[in-house]
Amino acid sequence: MSEGQFRGLSFGIPREIMSGERRVAAIPDTVKKLVDGGAKVFFEKGAGIGSYFSDDEYKKVGAAIIDDIQKLYDESDIILKVKEPLFNEELGKHEVDMMHEGQVLITFLHPAAPANHEMVKKLMEKKVTSLTLDGIPRISRAQSMDALTSMSTVAGYKSVLMAADRLPKFIPMIGTAVGMIQPSSVMVIGAGVAGLQAIATAKRLGAVVHAADIRPDAAEHAKSLGAKIVETGVPADVAIGKGGYAQSLPKEWLLKEREAIKETVVKSDILILTALVPGRLAPVLVTEEMVKQMKPGSAIVDVAIDQGGNCELTKGGELTVQYGVSIDGTKNIPGMVPISSTWMFAHNIFNYITSFINNGRLEIDTSDEIIASSLVTKGGKLYHAGAREAIGLD
Ligand code: NAI
Repeated sequence: MSEGQFRGLSFGIPREIMSGERRVAAIPDTVKKLVDGGAKVFFEKGAGIGSYFSDDEYKKVGAAIIDDIQKLYDESDIILKVKEPLFNEELGKHEVDMMHEGQVLITFLHPAAPANHEMVKKLMEKKVTSLTLDGIPRISRAQSMDALTSMSTVAGYKSVLMAADRLPKFIPMIGTAVGMIQPSSVMVIGAGVAGLQAIATAKRLGAVVHAADIRPDAAEHAKSLGAKIVETGVPADVAIGKGGYAQSLPKEWLLKEREAIKETVVKSDILILTALVPGRLAPVLVTEEMVKQMKPGSAIVDVAIDQGGNCELTKGGELTVQYGVSIDGTKNIPGMVPISSTWMFAHNIFNYITSFINNGRLEIDTSDEIIASSLVTKGGKLYHAGAREAIGLD
């Protein structure tokens, strides 16, 4: 950060209104950096409570605590948020309707998701400049800004604890006076960011861990964390697409993969499902037939639920018990670990803005790879490629 970097700019940090959302876009440390860089910071009263930060802590580092949310929107050049704008039931107003032309919004917008199309259109109509953190590419220059990766780290960790909490038995091997209790078995499908964190967490709890991923690199990482690898049988040239990411499998290979993982799936006490193909529906790898064969009391957490989930039976946002197996489709896992997720999120968003604000000026340069993939709307135009395609503009 350079001296005077944010000179003359005003930032607004509203309280998140999505039900159950406890994160906030700035912590006192990052507010202090904005203020030290010459910015004014307007912070909505109580916005930090869910993450255990009091208004006083923000006030001490120079934020103005604002009770009137419309005033906060009116006076801010840049709004920093966690979740996409929603209809504020209390005020009877959509958050986008509180915004003004030229205002900058930085948050997770997931603009390609059908549920967000109306909101994205509103941002266009209002001529708001919106940037989405889920668009930040996984390149080394952007690592410190990558909020999606941070949140997957939280989701991977917490998903194992959620499953462990429901499991009606010990996870580690326990020696007792009446005999040895064998450790539980955890299978992690998809060994990307969330999956690797899940493997590490399950190992720490003392489980026997199996992992499956169609990318040989990911399987290698899983192995280095101590997981036993379940071969999917999918050749690397079928599995890997553009940029080294996994790609959607043709039906015949998906069926072969299901066959290959089935034996380990049905024997597992815990299944953590994180298989994802960027920008596509998640592959369905665990079928109803497999769930039926699992031991009663086993626990599944379908972390990939935002993309439809990896288990045929998962219900989005719900915890159900089917064939005696609990299947958790919780959607906002990072919100359940608000201190750690807010800490990472606040640093990620601060590093992101620092990359394109200089001397109090925003440089929204679409020839920059990070901006090009995170810019959603500006001056009434929709830039985001995935959203344009999903809305049918291209
Ligand atoms: P990632 O892209 O790092 O990992 C996904 C992995 O799945 C990749 O290693 C890929 O090779 C693998 N994969 C793709 N197709 C596969 C197949 N057919 N079989 C086996 N593996 C396959 O993604 P990341 O960041 O780990 O996220 C994983 C999921 O977690 C995403 O769906 C994401 O939206 C979700 N997530 C959910 C949260 C929640 O609160 N429910 C919070 C954060 C992330």
